[in-house]
Amino acid sequence: MGQISLTELSPAIGAEITGIDLRDLNDTAFDAIYEAWMRYQVLRFRDQHLTDADLVSFSRRLGELDIAPPNENGQRYVEGFPEILVISNVVENGVELGSLGSGEAVWHTDMSYLPEPPMASVLYSWEVPAQGGNTGYLNMYSALDGLPAKLRERVYTLQLKHDATTNSAGYVRAGIDEETDVQTGPGTVHPMVVIHPYTGRDALYLGRRHRAYILGMELTESEKLLDEIWRYAVQEKFTWHQHWRAGDLLMWDNRCTMHRRDAFDPESRRIMHRTQIKGTDKPQTARLS
Ligand code: OGA
Ligand code: MN
Repeated sequence: MGQISLTELSPAIGAEITGIDLRDLNDTAFDAIYEAWMRYQVLRFRDQHLTDADLVSFSRRLGELDIAPPNENGQRYVEGFPEILVISNVVENGVELGSLGSGEAVWHTDMSYLPEPPMASVLYSWEVPAQGGNTGYLNMYSALDGLPAKLRERVYTLQLKHDATTNSAGYVRAGIDEETDVQTGPGTVHPMVVIHPYTGRDALYLGRRHRAYILGMELTESEKLLDEIWRYAVQEKFTWHQHWRAGDLLMWDNRCTMHRRDAFDPESRRIMHRTQIKGTDKPQTARLS
């Protein structure tokens, strides 16, 4: 490979690193990647040639890996690689290869309904449709700083309930009744502003809009305030959108980003293999200074 270099992908978020083969990464290069990741929040590497074993061994250098939850049919995705989750719309012999289908996945951060959400996710593309299925990323440090001063001050005092009933494609999780009250249903409460354990920077932590609830408020009041916060948070100027090629690897930090996916033609094929890095801490409350 040629010389390693880094290019910003947008003014908002993301950087691409070229000149690196992720199968063969020495510690110096790894440390440089890690620093860049903490700074740019999302990294892209193109033209990679990774087997599942390569993907798992690269991901393991980022931290301990989660075991993928069973897919929507209650099965394991890849025999022999319990860490790998497949994101795909492809159906072979009546069996879905992966999760999330071909519809839109709304803005979210991964699994924030858990007490210790995964710190990061790594997504590697095998097959992509000619059009659609782009993945957007949003900078949650900027989303916090972009709030009007009064609202920015207020979010530091709020606790948000992250709902566990549905996934980001809107599927109701196995064994859960969606009719439960959002105030008492399954989920986890996190501070609305968290301090990033590595960078020390404050980030807005929203998880997902659907069935979110601000503690201690009337539901209608909570809905109104959440709509307002989301309107400010989700602005194009804080985002960058990935147009996938096969062989792209993207890694993102769930503690300071959100992501979404556009729908795509259900007749086309999209296959991604994915790993998830365990969270090391519960999200910590940031204090207004
Ligand atoms: C994910 C996810 C979006 C995509 O893997 O967590 O939301 O583009 N994926 O497939
Ligand atoms: Mn996701």
